[in-house]
Amino acid sequence: AGVFTHDPGFTSTSSCDSSITFIDGDKGELLHRGYPIDQLAEKSHFLEVCYLLLYGELPNAADLEKFETTITHHTMIHEQMGNFFRGFRRDAHPMAVMVGVVGAMSAFYHDSTDINDPRQREIASHRLIAKMPTIAAWAYKYTIGQPFVYPRNDLDYASNFLRMCFAVPAEEYKVDPILSRAMDRIFTLHADHEQNASTSTVRLASSSGANPFACIAAGIACLWGPAHGGANQACLEMLKEIGTPDRIPEFIDRAKDKNDPFRLMGFGHRVYKNHDPRATVMKTSAHEVLDLLGVEDNPILQVAMELEKTALEDPYFAEKKLFPNVDFYSGIILEAMGFPTSMFTPIFAVSRTVGWVSQWKEQLTDPAMKIGRPRQLYTGETHRDYVEIEDR
Ligand code: CMC
Repeated sequence: AGVFTHDPGFTSTSSCDSSITFIDGDKGELLHRGYPIDQLAEKSHFLEVCYLLLYGELPNAADLEKFETTITHHTMIHEQMGNFFRGFRRDAHPMAVMVGVVGAMSAFYHDSTDINDPRQREIASHRLIAKMPTIAAWAYKYTIGQPFVYPRNDLDYASNFLRMCFAVPAEEYKVDPILSRAMDRIFTLHADHEQNASTSTVRLASSSGANPFACIAAGIACLWGPAHGGANQACLEMLKEIGTPDRIPEFIDRAKDKNDPFRLMGFGHRVYKNHDPRATVMKTSAHEVLDLLGVEDNPILQVAMELEKTALEDPYFAEKKLFPNVDFYSGIILEAMGFPTSMFTPIFAVSRTVGWVSQWKEQLTDPAMKIGRPRQLYTGETHRDYVEIEDR
């Protein structure tokens, strides 16, 4: 009973109050706790942004050091969790492994079930942010048949992740500071994005009072799809399929064709209708990384730049306000660093964990919180009487 609005895709429904992230889609502005994303990407670093998202203010030096130490000391995962990884097929997608392993963490941390205890909420937040790089790196190592690399507490967050992904036994692995900085920037640019599909999934799951690890596993599952976090993998695969700039018009025509389901991956956004500020920083970073690695003339980057130019000049994309989004350039950087495309979305999941966790914490302390329970417009049969099987 009662009046309700019908809004498939929630294009005009606000689901909560939030003081974490602000987006002005017309201006192309993204603020975390008031601070613009380009300033954070330039001057801050991922763990400082994590602190800002979780606690609302930039930390002073002592608070930052304490927070970094806490995160660093939660990076190990229980030795028994290795069994979960080993239970998957070798060729499993690392996102499938992450959904399973993160969900399984709820069985390792029973105390986290007490979501009404602020201390338990705090520990669960730290555990998730700290352990996610280890889980993503192990999912990767498992699928390529290499031994797991344990986290090292003396390394920063991004360097530790790179090492867990790329170090192999009996070989010295040194993290290049420029690559580590680029990795950190990718984490920072994906840290939070208000009520996107995966964050709304986390909030909906948590609205029933579910265990935090189970809620985050639900967020990872939602992120996986190509319309959301899976776009970075889909975008690089598309750029490779295009292959050479002369094939771009063919793909642009397909994207414009109403009868063809093909879309330009890494283009368009529900909220940004001018530009995606994250894409601007990502593009600069892509050039820096490829320059460092000596692959500025990388054919995929050439296709990406030419595709961006051609699409932006095309009236179809201008009319529909379709611009490159954050995923358009991130894949190029990750590929240049040596990640396979299947790891792109897990890296997004590592980055977004702090956003999910911050929004989860905010929701649990919101006095207006209720179980999320949308309604529907029923389009099925009206009342009818059961028909005996011999009469059908
Ligand atoms: N290529 C071609 N046409 C497009 C594209 C695209 N990438 N994106 C939207 N359109 C068209 C769409 O066909 C529709 O046309 P019409 O009005 O004639 O039916 C119009 O633009 C509006 O699209 P929509 O699907 O109604 O818009 P939405 O807000 O529901 O979808 C989106 C937003 C991001 C899912 C969509 O733009 C898309 O599928 N993009 C490609 C996938 C992608 O890059 N996703 C990453 C988003 S950013 C990171 C993240 O959120 O994870």
